[in-house]
Amino acid sequence: MSKPNVFQKFPIVKEEKAGTYYWCSCGQSANQPFCDGAHKGTEFVPKKVEITEDKKVAWCACKNSCTGEFCDGTHKTL
Ligand code: FES
Repeated sequence: MSKPNVFQKFPIVKEEKAGTYYWCSCGQSANQPFCDGAHKGTEFVPKKVEITEDKKVAWCACKNSCTGEFCDGTHKTL
């Protein structure tokens, strides 16, 4: 499997409303941390994420988190 592009080595922390989001897994989107369709032609697909309540989210922007869409500190090892 190809490695995703490391967009940046720290998370994107945002206040999000409850709702459905499509997290960019390929690291190529110009609309980080969300999908803009840039993965087309690669093996990557965006991950659908349901946020059930308004809250602060630390989205993984290195694309290597073991939890996928959420930062787990893995970026410190890159
Ligand atoms: S940005 Fe922290 S694990 Fe990816």
